[in-house]
Amino acid sequence: MTILLRGGTVVSASNVKKLDVLISGSKITKVARHISADTAQVVDCTGKLIFPGFIDAHTHFDLEVSDTVTADDFSSGTKAAICGGTTTIIDFATQNKGETLATALNNWHIKAFSKSSCDYAFHMAISDWNENIKEEVASMFEQGVTSFKAYMTYPAMMLSDEELFDMLSTLKKYGGIVSVHCENHGIINALTKEKKEKGELYVATHPKVRPSVCEGEAIDRLLSIAKVVDVPVIIVHLSSKEGLQVVRTHRKNGSKVYVETCPQYLLLDDTVYDKKGIEGAKFVCSPPIRKKQDSKELWNALKESEIDTVATDHCSFTLEQKSKGLDDFSKMPNGMPGVETRGVLMYTYGVCKNRIKLERMCKLLCENPAKLYGMYPKKGVIKEGSDADIVVLDIKAKEIISKDTHHSNADYSPFEGVRTKCKVQSVFLRGKQVVKDGEIVLENKGKFVHRALSDL
Ligand code: URP
Ligand code: ZN
Ligand code: ZN
Repeated sequence: MTILLRGGTVVSASNVKKLDVLISGSKITKVARHISADTAQVVDCTGKLIFPGFIDAHTHFDLEVSDTVTADDFSSGTKAAICGGTTTIIDFATQNKGETLATALNNWHIKAFSKSSCDYAFHMAISDWNENIKEEVASMFEQGVTSFKAYMTYPAMMLSDEELFDMLSTLKKYGGIVSVHCENHGIINALTKEKKEKGELYVATHPKVRPSVCEGEAIDRLLSIAKVVDVPVIIVHLSSKEGLQVVRTHRKNGSKVYVETCPQYLLLDDTVYDKKGIEGAKFVCSPPIRKKQDSKELWNALKESEIDTVATDHCSFTLEQKSKGLDDFSKMPNGMPGVETRGVLMYTYGVCKNRIKLERMCKLLCENPAKLYGMYPKKGVIKEGSDADIVVLDIKAKEIISKDTHHSNADYSPFEGVRTKCKVQSVFLRGKQVVKDGEIVLENKGKFVHRALSDL
C-alpha cells in the first residue's frame, strides 16, 4: 500500500517546510517538494501541519497502586493516546517488592499485548534492588528495555540513597539510563503526620505536605549521587522553579542531566486546590501543581532548551476512585489523565502563544524522546527509512476539551472546557491510517518497540 501525503507543512526539530511525504508499507520512502506517485492513495494535507508521531515516554496504564488499579488499561489508554497523535508510549513496567524483573516485564507484556492501539515500549521501574535483581539487568537490555525508573518516595517503591547509588553504578556498565521521581520522603512523611494530628485531612492539604523544597532537595541528592557515579540521569515530571534551579547549578558544575516536564505543570496552578471536595481531588498528583510563577519559569526553560522532553505522566482514576481520599488526602490515588491532550495543548498554549516554536515542539514531543529512549531514527522524525508514524494537525479547526468526547476511562479531564486552536485530524501508525477525521478507524495495531541504548 502506497500513500502520498500531499501539500502539507512538515515539521522537524530543525525546520518547517512544505513537503510531500510518500509512505510505502510501514515506512516513509520519500520526502520531497513534489512527489508524483500515480498508484498511491493521495491524502490532501493542504494547510495542515505534519508532525512525526508524538512519543509519550511517561504513562502508567493498568497499574495497581493505592489499593486500586488505574482507570485506563492499555486498551483505553492507547486509544486515548492515538487520538491525541501519540503513536508511541513508554509505560512503566513496575516491579512489586519481592518480584523478579522478569515477572514484572512479563506482566506488562501481557497487559499490553494485542490490546494496544499505538506502539509501546517499557521502562523498568525497580522497587526492590538486591543482588538477584542485579543479575537480571543484562536480560532486560537483551529484551529491549534500556531505561529504568527509581522512586525517592512512595514506600511501596522507593529506594534508599545507597540502593540508588548501586543501581546507577550497575546500569552504567550497560549504558542504561535511569529516570527518577524526585521528592524527599522524610519531609512528606513528617508533614503528613503533623497535618493529620491537626485534623487537616482535606484535599487542599496535599500540596502543603509536598512543598517545592521536597523536589529541590531530592533532585540535589540524586544529582550528587549521579555525579559520584559519573552517569547521566533523567528528572521526570519537573514541577518547580526550585527544582529547576538545582538542575541549573548541577549543570554548571558539569553534570549531564535530562529533564522532563508535563502539561499540568505548565498550564495549571495551585489555585486548583482551592476547589472543594472532589473538584480539588481531580488535581491530586505528585509532585503537586505549583504556583503560577513556577509554570512561567518552566515555560522559559522549555524555550531555552533547559527542559528536554514533555510527557504526560498519565495515571488516571475515576472520580469514584479519587473519592476514597476525600476524608483523608493521604489515601487519595495520585495522578491524572493527560495522554490525549498533550499535543493540542502544546500547540495552542506553546506555539500559538509564542512561547515555543514549532521546531521546538517537535523536539520536545518527538525527536528528543526518540533519541533519549533509544528509538531514533526509527521513531521521532519524518525521513526516508523511518517508521511511517505521522500526525496530521488541522490548525484551522478548534476544539473544546471534554470528558464527554475523550477516550480515556477517566470520567473527568483536568483540562475540561479548555479551548484548543487545532485538532488531530489523521494519524498513521507504521503506514496504516488509524485515525481519520479525529476518530479511530483501526484499533489494536500497536506493537512492542525493542529499544536500543539512549542516544541524546
Ligand atoms: O501523581 C502521580 N504523578 N502519579 C503517577 C506516579 C508518578 O509519581 O509518576
Ligand atoms: Zn513520579
Ligand atoms: Zn509517573
